[in-house]
Amino acid sequence: MDVYDSLQKFEVPEIIHGIGALSIVGKSAKRLGGERVLLVTDPGLVKTGWVDETIEHLRAEGLKYVVYDNVSTNPKDFQIEEGAQVYEKKQCDVIVAVGGGSPVDAAKGIAILASNRGAIQDYEGCNLVTQPVPPMVCVPTTAGAGADVTQFAVVTNSAKRMKMVIISRAIMPEIALIDPRLLMTESPELVAATGMDTLAHAIEAYVSSLSWPLTDPHALHAVELVSQHLVNAARSKDMKSLEGMSLACLEAGIAFSNAILGAVHALAHPLGGFYDIHHGLVNAVLLPVVVKRNMDHSLDKYARIAKAMGADTAGMTARAAAKCALDQIRKLIDDLGLPSRLSQFDVNLEDIARLAEFAEADICMQTNPYRYPRDEIETLYREAW
Ligand SMILES: [Fe+2]
Repeated sequence: MDVYDSLQKFEVPEIIHGIGALSIVGKSAKRLGGERVLLVTDPGLVKTGWVDETIEHLRAEGLKYVVYDNVSTNPKDFQIEEGAQVYEKKQCDVIVAVGGGSPVDAAKGIAILASNRGAIQDYEGCNLVTQPVPPMVCVPTTAGAGADVTQFAVVTNSAKRMKMVIISRAIMPEIALIDPRLLMTESPELVAATGMDTLAHAIEAYVSSLSWPLTDPHALHAVELVSQHLVNAARSKDMKSLEGMSLACLEAGIAFSNAILGAVHALAHPLGGFYDIHHGLVNAVLLPVVVKRNMDHSLDKYARIAKAMGADTAGMTARAAAKCALDQIRKLIDDLGLPSRLSQFDVNLEDIARLAEFAEADICMQTNPYRYPRDEIETLYREAW
């Protein structure tokens, strides 16, 4: 056995969490030695006013800045190339990302190209980013992706219409500023969908073959927080629920950055790349399908998930308790009014063989408690359809 097979690691950025965290974005960029900021965001966020507030804080510290906001959902390779060109042309030296998972992932991609050169496709996979990247400050505006605290970036290869997963410790942001106030401008639908992404992160990290005592408590606590706060956060957006969800997203992000993910994400990535469907919505459909099939490979852990989701599992066998986790997930999806079938998204059954080919090769499949062969992945897609 290789010595590396027995080693485990745990890595997090500097994390500042709480109402008002955005106000130190200028100080944070300056503390990292920055003088010229590339501010990566998206057009929707410009309208919310958070970008203007960010700019005020940058100006207050005497920083120069340029805004790059041509980032779509499921960020594309050509957007990253364009952002990297802006970074170089304007001679930026620090990146600030304000947004959900898409602008943060785009910022990571831009950071890679800024110092490693080449094409973003060259870095798909694990630890292929060899040169240090520009310092990054990330400010999440959704409680879903957790990208502000992870060493993951997911970028769409536009020619292949497939998502590329980039995992590298080089792209861990230096500072995450998590301000629950920013969640106020999320639509109820986005709160629900991104919240299901957080739940998928927490559950997949918890049952991952790379989970360990430093990731498990965060993963399980995130499951608990989602169960307590997600429905309220989506319905009423009261600050207590939003704070709960921002903490859930943070803890799930910490857990999955270090324990990686599983079959839900392996199957979700090809759907996002091929049909450009929102990542959180795809996860909501896939999560119960995968949990049902995964359960036998990690009964005790799914039983603990059921308990964290509020099920009374006292006196039950592990199998009966694990089944409660599935019931709780289905109920949550129902309460949130989210789609529950892939057929609701114009997913074509004829594409399933191609989708399964990519899902089988997705890096997230490697840490699922069970490595699904191609034919079983096709079955999972059909069950979700
Ligand atoms: Fe995700």
